[in-house]
Amino acid sequence: MPSLVALEREARGCVACPLASSRSNVVFGVGDPRARIMFVGEGPGREEDLAGEPFVGRSGQLLNRLITEELGMRRSECYIANVVKCRPPGNRDPEPAEVAACHHFLSGQLAEIGPRVVITLGNFASRSLLRTSEGITKLRGRVHPFGDAALVPTFHPAAALRGGGAVLAQMRADFVRAKLALGDPSGSAGQALGGSD
Ligand code: URA
Repeated sequence: MPSLVALEREARGCVACPLASSRSNVVFGVGDPRARIMFVGEGPGREEDLAGEPFVGRSGQLLNRLITEELGMRRSECYIANVVKCRPPGNRDPEPAEVAACHHFLSGQLAEIGPRVVITLGNFASRSLLRTSEGITKLRGRVHPFGDAALVPTFHPAAALRGGGAVLAQMRADFVRAKLALGDPSGSAGQALGGSD
């Protein structure tokens, strides 16, 4: 398995799908390469494309707040990445061929970092990693086995920014689930919270 540094170098020169032609920057991922918690979003938005860093816009600010308030951690202690590393124009969902072309970057990040807990942000990332067509409303609220790790699906922060308090409260409960799963990646501690919201 190539190192994170080698993968990032490869991603920076990647032209394997049409997203390469409209990107300003490759948004590979950021954070601690030894992180115990890894977040996976869908793909860079406009601000992320310009900055070359995931979750730097309003969604990112909310994510940072939840990391601090619910996990008691700093953003820099986690690792943050997306399913696709280049911005889909107009913030559309990535196409299956784009996800396939980018897949080895995310699987390489997961393998190299080896997080204990993966938190997927939103429908797209949750479905992609769990390989299901089930929606986020059904997937969230429990801990899913994911190789040696636990996967905790939650809403995308943009959904909480649009949907307000109820969505945010569910996200907070999912972050608490993730924190419990950190101590118990088999998920039984997180499962115990299954019906709490
Ligand atoms: N939304 C995402 O899914 N990823 C980002 O990096 C920013 C917004």
